Amino acid sequence: MQLLTTLTTCLLASSAVARTTKHVRKANPLPENPRIKARQAIADLPTAPGYGGSSYNTTIIPQTNATMKYAVNGSAIPDVDFDVGESYAGLMPISNQANTSELYFWFFPSENPMAGDEILIWLNGGPECSSLEGLLQENGPFLWQYGTYKPVKNPYTWVNLTNVVWVEQPAGTGFSQQNGVPPATNEIEVAAQFLGFWKNFVDTFGLQNKKVYITGESYAGYYVPYIADAMHNASDTCYYDVRSILFYDPSTSYGVVQDDIPSVPFVDYWSSLFSLNQTFMDDIHTRADACGYTSFIETAMQFPPNGTLPTPPNVNHDMPGCSIYNDIQNAALLVNPCWDVYQVATTCPLLWDVLGFPGSIPYLPDGATIYFNRSDVQAAINAPMGEWEECSGGVLDTDTSPPSGLSVLPRVIEKNEKTIIGHGMLDMILIMNGTIMMIQNMTWNGAQGFSTPPSTWNNFYVPYHEELSLSSLAGSGDFGIWHEERGLTFCTIDLAGHMIPQYAPAAAYRQVEYLLGRIDNLGEKSDFTTQSGDFGNNFTFVTANVSNSSPVSSSNSSMKFLPAM
Ligand SMILES: *[C@@H]1O[C@H](CO)[C@@H](O)[C@H](O)[C@H]1NC(C)=O
Ligand SMILES: *[C@@H]1O[C@H](CO)[C@@H](O)[C@H](O)[C@H]1NC(C)=O
Ligand SMILES: *[C@@H]1O[C@H](CO)[C@@H](O)[C@H](O)[C@H]1NC(C)=O
Ligand SMILES: *[C@@H]1O[C@H](CO)[C@@H](O)[C@H](O)[C@H]1NC(C)=O
Ligand SMILES: *[C@@H]1O[C@H](CO)[C@@H](O)[C@H](O)[C@H]1NC(C)=O
Ligand SMILES: *[C@@H]1O[C@H](CO)[C@@H](O)[C@H](O)[C@H]1NC(C)=O
Ligand SMILES: *[C@@H]1O[C@H](CO)[C@@H](O)[C@H](O)[C@H]1NC(C)=O
Ligand SMILES: *[C@@H]1O[C@H](CO)[C@@H](O)[C@H](O)[C@H]1NC(C)=O
Ligand SMILES: *[C@@H]1O[C@H](CO)[C@@H](O)[C@H](O)[C@H]1NC(C)=O
Ligand SMILES: *[C@@H]1O[C@H](CO)[C@@H](O)[C@H](O)[C@H]1NC(C)=O
Ligand SMILES: *[C@@H]1O[C@H](CO)[C@@H](O)[C@H](O)[C@H]1NC(C)=O
Ligand SMILES: *[C@@H]1O[C@H](CO)[C@@H](O)[C@H](O)[C@H]1NC(C)=O
Repeated sequence: MQLLTTLTTCLLASSAVARTTKHVRKANPLPENPRIKARQAIADLPTAPGYGGSSYNTTIIPQTNATMKYAVNGSAIPDVDFDVGESYAGLMPISNQANTSELYFWFFPSENPMAGDEILIWLNGGPECSSLEGLLQENGPFLWQYGTYKPVKNPYTWVNLTNVVWVEQPAGTGFSQQNGVPPATNEIEVAAQFLGFWKNFVDTFGLQNKKVYITGESYAGYYVPYIADAMHNASDTCYYDVRSILFYDPSTSYGVVQDDIPSVPFVDYWSSLFSLNQTFMDDIHTRADACGYTSFIETAMQFPPNGTLPTPPNVNHDMPGCSIYNDIQNAALLVNPCWDVYQVATTCPLLWDVLGFPGSIPYLPDGATIYFNRSDVQAAINAPMGEWEECSGGVLDTDTSPPSGLSVLPRVIEKNEKTIIGHGMLDMILIMNGTIMMIQNMTWNGAQGFSTPPSTWNNFYVPYHEELSLSSLAGSGDFGIWHEERGLTFCTIDLAGHMIPQYAPAAAYRQVEYLLGRIDNLGEKSDFTTQSGDFGNNFTFVTANVSNSSPVSSSNSSMKFLPAM
C-alpha cells in the first residue's frame, strides 16, 4: 500500500513541484523542463477526451441494412459512462452454407485520417481465450482492468491509429458458435475458418482492397502467422491483402524451449522478485546442468548461430527431474501466493477482475459478476445470450500443427512487409530468451538467425507524451531493445508482463505506429503521431539537469510530505 501511495503522490505532486521552490524562496527558479510540464498537465485532466466520435449522426461506415444489423450504441454500454464511439459487433458466419460456425467480432472504425485504407485484426490466444479480453483490458477504446473501479477511456487504444476488429476465434471461443463441421484440430482449419469469416466481414462493411494487419499475443503466435500464410496463399488483394504482422509473447516453438530451458537464467535475472531460498536455487542450477539445459542455451544463444540446433532436451516433458519450470512455479507460489506467471513482479492481494482471471488463477469475489456474462452487456453488444468465459474449454484441445517458428513463419516473414515480435521482460508463461532461441534456429530470407547479439541492439524509445488522465498513465523513455534483420523485428519491452498493451500501453502504441509505417523505426525520438507538443522528446539529458530540474529530483523533494502509512 505504501509503495502505491508514494507512486501516485509522486505523479500528483507535479503541481506541488512548481510550488516547492516558491515556498523555500529559491533564488534560481526551476528551468522549464518539458517533461515536468507534461506531467503537470496530468493533474488538470481528471478524464481523458473521447475518441472515435459519436456513434450516430455522421458515421465512418455507411449505414446500410447490412451494417445496421451490427451497430452498437456507444452510449449504451453497461457501466460505461461515456460514448465509446462508433462500432459494430455480432456473429458473422464463416461460410455461406446453412448451419455453419459463426465468429463473434467487435469492430471499431477509426477517425484517424491515415486509417482510410487499413484494417487491423487483434487476436488473443489460449487456445480458447477470448479477444474481448484484449479489447476490455489491453488495447480497446475503453478499459476495465483488474482492481479498478469502473471502465475508463483508453488514450492508447489502437483505434486512435487505425480501424481495429477484435475477433473471438476459432469457433467455440467466447461467444463464437461452433456448428456444422467438427471443431478445428489444426491451424490450417483455424485459418480456413478465419478467411471464410473475413470475406463475409469485408463484404458486410465494404472493406475491400484494404491493407490488412494481423496482431495478437500468446497462442496467437500460432494464429497470426498461419492466418497470414493462408492470406498470402489466397493471392486476392481485394480481401486478403495482408501487409504486416505484430505478435507479442508468442508461442512459436517447442514448449521446453520457451519454458524449462530458459527458466533458470530467468529466475537468476529476477532473483530478488522470486526470493527463493538458496537450497532450492542450488538445486535448480544443478538440475539445469544435468538436464542439458545450460549447455543448450550456450549453443542456442550464439550470434550469428553456429548451425542448426538439434531437437531440444526433454522435448516431450518426460525426463525425470527436469520439469524445472513447474517446480519454480510451485516454489514461487509458496513464497508469494499471489505470484503471477504472466507478470512476475505481482504480489498480494489478488485483485477483483471483471473477467474473473486476474493472474495465474481464476478468481471472482463473492457477489461479483463476469462482465461479458451479463445479459445486459450481451444485449448491448449484439452477443448471443448465454454463458461467456474468458477461456472456454473444448476449443483446439488438440492442435496437430507444428509451432509457427518451426514451420510457416519464415515464408510469412519473406512475404510480409514487416514482421514484428515483441516480448515482455516480466513474462514467465513464455520466456523472452525462448523467443530469441526460436529466432536463432530459424532460416529466412537466405540466412539463419540474427547476426549480432542483444548487447549490440538498439534502444526502443517510447515517446514522452501528454498524459490524459490518472486512470490511464503510461511510461515512456528507453523501454527495451530492438533489432531488425531481413524483414524481422524483435523488441523487448521492459516493465511488461505477458499482455503488452495492458502493462505498457504507450510502448504497444508506438509499436503499432511502426507496424503501420507511421514512424521509421522503434528508436525514433519523436512525438506520437497523434500528439504534438513540447513533451521533451528532443530533451538532451546532461548530469547537470539532475540537481536542478529533472523529474526525479523534483519528486524526491516532495517525498517528505508523504504520510508514513
Ligand atoms: C446528432 O443528431 C441528434 C439527433 O438527431 C442532434 O440533436 C445532434 O445535434 C446531432 N449532432 C451532430 C453533431 O450533428
Ligand atoms: C432495408 O430494410 C428495410 C426494412 O426491413 C426494407 O424495407 C428495405 O427494402 C431494405 N433495403 C435494402 C436496400 O435492402
Ligand atoms: C443510445 O443510448 C442512449 C443511452 O441509453 C440513448 O439515449 C440513445 O437514444 C441511444 N441512441 C440510439 C441511436 O439508439
Ligand atoms: C447443425 O450442425 C450440428 C453439428 O455441429 C448438428 O448437430 C445440427 O443438427 C445441425 N443443425 C441443422 C439444422 O442442420
Ligand atoms: C499455404 O500453401 C501451402 C502450399 O500449398 C500449404 O502447404 C499451406 O498449408 C498453406 N497454408 C495454410 C495456412 O493454409
Ligand atoms: C537470457 O539468456 C542470457 C544467456 O544467453 C542470460 O545472460 C540472460 O540473463 C537471460 N535473460 C533473461 C531475462 O532470462
Ligand atoms: C560450432 O559447431 C561445430 C560443429 O557442430 C562444433 O564443433 C563447435 O564446437 C561449435 N562451436 C561453438 C562455439 O559452439
Ligand atoms: C532447429 O531447427 C531444426 C531444423 O528446422 C529442427 O530440426 C530442430 O528441431 C530445431 N531445434 C530447435 C531447438 O528449435
Ligand atoms: C526452500 O524452498 C523449497 C521449494 O519451495 C521448499 O521445499 C523448502 O522447504 C524451502 N526451504 C526452507 C528452509 O524454507
Ligand atoms: C454466467 O451466467 C450464467 C447465466 O447465463 C450463470 O449460470 C453462470 O453461473 C455465470 N457464470 C459465472 C462464472 O458467473
Ligand atoms: C488519442 O486520440 C485523442 C483524441 O484525438 C488524443 O487526445 C490522444 O492524445 C490520442 N492518444 C495518443 C496516445 O496519442
Ligand atoms: C523541442 O522542440 C520544440 C518544438 O520544436 C521546441 O519548441 C522546444 O524548444 C524544443 N525543446 C528543447 C529542449 O530543445
